[in-house]
Amino acid sequence: MQDPAVSRPLVGKRVVVTSGPTREAIDPVRYLSNNSSGKQGHAIAKAAAEAGAEVVLVTGPVNLPDPVGVTVVHVESARDMLTAVEQALPATIAIFAAAVADWRVADVAGAKLKKGPAGPPSLAFVENPDILATVAKHPSKRPQLVVGFAAETEAVIDNARAKLARKGSDLIVANDVGVATGTFGGDANTVHIVSADGVETWARQSKDDVARALIALVAKRL
Ligand code: CTP
Ligand code: CA
Repeated sequence: MQDPAVSRPLVGKRVVVTSGPTREAIDPVRYLSNNSSGKQGHAIAKAAAEAGAEVVLVTGPVNLPDPVGVTVVHVESARDMLTAVEQALPATIAIFAAAVADWRVADVAGAKLKKGPAGPPSLAFVENPDILATVAKHPSKRPQLVVGFAAETEAVIDNARAKLARKGSDLIVANDVGVATGTFGGDANTVHIVSADGVETWARQSKDDVARALIALVAKRL
């Protein structure tokens, strides 16, 4: 039989994962969101559970089944996602794969906006809380290992390095989400692992394989 320390290296560890997009309301029937499918985040939650961890997956709206053996918290907005993540702490590891909306509408209309002679509405935005940075800089509940993603369409590595420093995470998994790459919504991913030690580029592989490799790497770094 295989050594459980090798096959299930996260037994006894709690892992929090975010996944999917968030939805920010405009009015009771409209919202702003993005193309994140949640496939990568859900695959990470599943891989962590298979490695023996107790996993809390906080996910925005996705068309995916809840992974087996994982506690799933369904949220819509970035602020709800932050609340759910904070409630899931303390944890040994936190992995932030969600594509969180950077902005929300400043004044959400209480009733459906109507067409009229005044023409289209103008929307004012305010910035959402940064969930990764909040957790990475948490005064008392910072997980031992904090992993962020960087969704980029240009200067992937440079932008990821800047995010590593700015957000206070231990690792950034950088991926090119330009439309031509097919990463958003697709089943494969090419990622670069950016840390204080440097940059490691992994060959293009399925999101399930990226998830398993990332969990193995994280378990090794603990
Ligand atoms: N993130 C987060 N909360 C936010 C925005 C981002 O937790 N409000 C997390 C994402 O889950 C990801 C990382 O931060 O792990 C980087 O997200 P990304 O959108 O690439 O970076 P931003 O800092 O939002 O910068 P920008 O979108 O301007 O590139
Ligand atoms: Ca962003």
